[in-house]
Amino acid sequence: MQAWKEYQEKNKDRFLDELLELLRIPSVSAKSEHKADMIRCAEAFKQRLLEAGADKVEIYPTAGHPIVYGEKIVDPSKPTVLVYGHYDVQPPEPLELWKSGPFEPVIVDGKIFARGSCDDKGQVYMHVKALETLVKTNTLGSNIKFCIEGEEEVGSPNLGKFVTEHKELLKADCILISDSAMISLDTPSLDTGLRGLSYIEVEVTGPNRDLHSGVYGGAVANPITILAKMIASLHDENNHITIPGFYDDVLVATPEERALMAQAPFDEEAYKQDLGVKELWGEKGFTTNERTGIRPTLELNGIWGGYTGEGAKTVLPSKAFAKISARLVPNQQSDKITEKLIKHLESIAPPYVTVKAALHHGGEPYVTPIDSKAYRAAAKAIEATFGKQPIPVRGGGSIPICALFEKELGIKIVLMGFGLDSDNLHSPNEKFDLANYYKGIETIPYFHQYFASL
Ligand code: BES
Ligand code: MN
Ligand code: MN
Repeated sequence: MQAWKEYQEKNKDRFLDELLELLRIPSVSAKSEHKADMIRCAEAFKQRLLEAGADKVEIYPTAGHPIVYGEKIVDPSKPTVLVYGHYDVQPPEPLELWKSGPFEPVIVDGKIFARGSCDDKGQVYMHVKALETLVKTNTLGSNIKFCIEGEEEVGSPNLGKFVTEHKELLKADCILISDSAMISLDTPSLDTGLRGLSYIEVEVTGPNRDLHSGVYGGAVANPITILAKMIASLHDENNHITIPGFYDDVLVATPEERALMAQAPFDEEAYKQDLGVKELWGEKGFTTNERTGIRPTLELNGIWGGYTGEGAKTVLPSKAFAKISARLVPNQQSDKITEKLIKHLESIAPPYVTVKAALHHGGEPYVTPIDSKAYRAAAKAIEATFGKQPIPVRGGGSIPICALFEKELGIKIVLMGFGLDSDNLHSPNEKFDLANYYKGIETIPYFHQYFASL
C-alpha cells in the first residue's frame, strides 16, 4: 500500500536508530547481574509501544524477568492478532571473538551487528514499527496484542503460568511470531514447525578430591576420560542416537512430505564454505535439511573438568561435567526424553565413577498446518512484498512456549521469521541485514490486513 511505503520511507532512519538504542541494553536473561538491564529493556519496549500507538501497555512482573503486554484494540468485534517475541538475549561470550562490542551496535556492509539484532529484538521491533505504520496512516482495521517476554532464552520458565492466568487478556484469533529465519530474501520461506528440547547437565565424580596425576594416575579412573567415553557412545556408527527408546515416538515423515522438503533450494557447497567445514555430518539416510528439520538430534553444549587455566597442571581431577541437549520432533515428549537420557547415562556409568544428571529446561516440538487462515495470510503478505510465494520449511530451533500457547489459547501460530540461518544467532557477531529488517516492517502490515479480511 502506497501510504505505508511512503510513511516507512520517510521514517526509515529513525526506525533504525530506535532499534540500535534497544540493542545497547545488555538484556541477558541467563545472568543475574543483568536483572536491572532486563527491567530497563522491558520499560523501553513499553515506552516504544505507547509511542507507536498502543492504547494500553503493562509490565507484568514474574518470578523471573518481567513480561511486556500491550494492545491496540480498534474494534472488539474484529479479528485480533497476538504478537509474541522476546527481549532477552543469549550471553555474548566469548567476547574476544566479536569484531565490535556485542552491545555497541554498528552497521557494516548493510548489516546490524549486535547481540539480539536478529534474535529477537530486531524482529520484535519490526512489529512495533508495523503497528506505528498502521496507526499513523489510519489504516489499522483489526486488533493487535503484544506479549514480549524476557525469558525465552532460558526456556520460558514463567511464561506458562502467565498464559494460564491471563487467557482472557491474551485472547486472540492467531499468534504471529517473528523469531525464526527464511531461506533468503530471494527465496522467502515460512517455518511450519519447530523442534522441542530436552536439556540436562551431568556431573561425573571419580576420587573424592583432585589428585596428583603422577602419584595416582594409572590406578584411579579419570572422570574426564570416563565422561568422554560415555558421551562418545551416545551415537553409533551411523550417527543414530543409542539411547534406548529415543526414537519410539518420532512421527516419521511420509515420502510425499520428504519430496516436498527436497524442493527447497539448498546449496551444500555454500553451506559448507560458510561454516568452514570440509564435510557435513549427520544421521545416515537423511539430507541436511531433514537432519535439522524433521529428525531429532543430540548435542553436547559444553564439557569441562580438571585444569583449564593458563599453563599446565598435572592433576587427576575429581569431577567432569557436560551440558547435553536433545532436539525433539513430533510426537516426542520432552519429559519422557529427559528421563530416558538421564536413566541411560546412569546405566552406562562404570563402577569407577558416580553420575548425577539433572534437567535444565525443556520444551515441546510444534507443527503448524499450512491451510490455516493465519498461514495463508502470512503467505499472501510475503507474496505482496517479495513478489514470490514462500516455501514451507521446518525450523530446527525451538520456541518453548509455542505448544503451550496453542494448548492454552486454542489458536494457531504462524512463524513469519525474517532472519537468516547465517545471522550468527547465539554466536559471536550476531547480525541482522537492514534489508531484512525493512522488509519485515513492510510485510507485517499486509499480514494484519489479509488476516482480517480472509
Ligand atoms: N529464535 C530462536 C529459535 C529459532 C532459531 C527458531 C532459528 C527457528 C530458527 C530462539 O530464541 C531460541 O534460540 N530458542 C532456544 C530455546 C531454548 C533456549 C529453550 C533454542 O532453540 O535453543
Ligand atoms: Mn529467539
Ligand atoms: Mn535464541
